[in-house]
Order: sequence, then structure tokens, then C-alpha cells
Amino acid sequence: MSLHRPRRLRTTEAMRSLVAQTRLSPKQLVLPMFVADGLDAPRPISSMPGVVNHTLDSLSEAARAAVDAGVGGLMLFGVPRPEDKDATGSCGQAPDGILNRALTRLAAELGDTTVLMADTCLDEFTDHGHCGVLDAAGRVDNDATLEHYRALALAQARAGAHVVAPSGMMDGQVAAIRDALDGEGFTDVGILAYTAKYASAFYGPFREAVGSSLDGDRRTYQQDPANRTEAVRELLADLDEGADMVMVKPAMSYLDIVREVADRSDRPVAAYQISGEYSMICAAAERGWIDREAALDEAVLSIVRAGASIVLTYAAVEIAERLQQRSR
Ligand code: PBG
Repeated sequence: MSLHRPRRLRTTEAMRSLVAQTRLSPKQLVLPMFVADGLDAPRPISSMPGVVNHTLDSLSEAARAAVDAGVGGLMLFGVPRPEDKDATGSCGQAPDGILNRALTRLAAELGDTTVLMADTCLDEFTDHGHCGVLDAAGRVDNDATLEHYRALALAQARAGAHVVAPSGMMDGQVAAIRDALDGEGFTDVGILAYTAKYASAFYGPFREAVGSSLDGDRRTYQQDPANRTEAVRELLADLDEGADMVMVKPAMSYLDIVREVADRSDRPVAAYQISGEYSMICAAAERGWIDREAALDEAVLSIVRAGASIVLTYAAVEIAERLQQRSR
């Protein structure tokens, strides 16, 4: 028998690109963006190189640039002024709250040229920093929180979001939001469910980005990193409740979960390369230990290979630009 020679398919760049099984397209990348209230100028986030808290004007410019680079969607996070936070995160629901103002503006400027998504969660807006409202004992009250998610999703839909993205891991959040949206005629507004969201140490830089007030952790609602089948249970529930797309988060340490969810979902699967994943690569590259561009490209490619067809990444624009250049 002749020797097996898999290297034959690796001989030239042309051969390698012919047989490549995973291909990235800018259209499958979603750029998460932060818009902050009360800023005169965009404010860099020190733990996330190249990422800023936007003003409405700089958001508008950067969003346009992302769309021009071919990025497929934008995910917006609102950062209110600290004095506007309260126990129920009411500034998230107010039409003149920062996130809703940003959605209104981008919806008017970009129309249907992109998919405008909004983080549907309370943590950026609450003074205690939790993703839900608290009961008298200080515990996150699941069912009371659902009422707030309904209002939040409606406010975002009215402001022009194409997709709302509940990220708080409350039980029943997808069903509650679907019911609220349908009740006001927003049947075309989609739900990207954070289906398997783990209580991760890698969210660290994000908490700086949104000026999180959290003292403690999210382990009573986000999943335990030790668990796999729990993600399947969450998936089946979200599909049943009417999620249009499902998401796994973080991505890199959870590629097995991405694969598991992709194998079982009849709807598009997204994965979120979160702040810590992005910043680790930037930090190592700043020290000259790894090649930033190659590492970011490889990480995102691997997330797609694992089964995600949509990737949220802070590097969406630069990756999209590299892809466009290479295809020329
Ligand atoms: C919650 C939310 C978080 C992220 C996205 N949505 C923070 C958290 O769960 O603590 C993290 C994103 C990232 O780390 O890049 N609204």
C-alpha cells in the first residue's frame, strides 16, 4: 500500500485555498459597539485596544464605516451616565435613553443596509449591575425581570432595532419578548437569543467598557463552565420559545458547545468572541508574542469551523477589510 500523503493538498497556496473547508465572509461578522451618554468625544476603553465608548456622532460614523467594510450587522450596547442608573434600569426603556437614541439614529441613517441589533439586558442600566431586578432578599428575580425585558425589547423595536438580543439568561426570556413584540405588531423583529452564556472570567474588559456596577458574580443565571448538556437544554427551550438565532458565548473556550449547538439547531448559530478573548490577543501581540492579525483571523475562522455561521467580534471591521483585500 502506498504511503498516505495528506501533505499533497498543502503544497501550494492555490491548492490550499481550493481545498479549504471553512471560508469567512465579512457578511457573517457582527461588530459590537458601545455608545455612551454624556460624552463630548469618543472615550477609549483601556482594556480593549482600538475599542471606544462612542458619542452618537462617532457611533454614526463608525457604523457607516463598518457597513462600508462589508460587516453584516451591528450589536449596540448602551452606557448611561452613572447618575441615571437605578434599581430597575429604567433608562434602558426610556425612548430618550442612550441606547434607544442610538438605535433611532442608526435606523434612520442606515435603513435596511445592515442588521441593527440591540443588547436586551438590564445590567448596563442598573445601579447594582445585575442583569435582572432584585427581590427583597437581594436575589435576581427571574419572573419580575421578564416584565422589564418585555418593555426593553419593545422600546428597542420602536427605536428601529431589526433584532433584539436578550443576554441576561433569565428563564423564559425569549417567550416573554416574542409575546411582547407580537402584541405590538413587531412580528418582523427577530430575537437573537443568548442561549448558552457562561459565567466567564473573560468578560472582564467588557465590564470596564460599560462601567459595570456589579459587585459579585452572575452564577445564579449564567451557566457553569463545567456543564455541557445544560447548553442543550437551554437550546431546546430557546428554539421552542421562538428564538430566530441562537448564540454561544464566550466562543474560544466553548468551541465544543458551539459544535454541539450547531449540530442540534435548525436555526442560525452565532458565537461571541468576547472582550477578554479579543483583549488577550491584543495584549500578547503588543508584547510581540503573537501576530495580532493572524491570531484574530485564526480565532474567528475556528469559531466558524466549530459551527457558528455568525460571529460577533470587536475585530469585525479589520477582519472584513482583510478579507476584502484578499479577494481582490
Ligand atoms: C450582558 C452582556 C455582557 C456581555 C455582553 N452582554 C456582560 C456580562 O454578561 O457580564 C459581555 C461581552 C463581552 O465580554 O465582550 N448585558
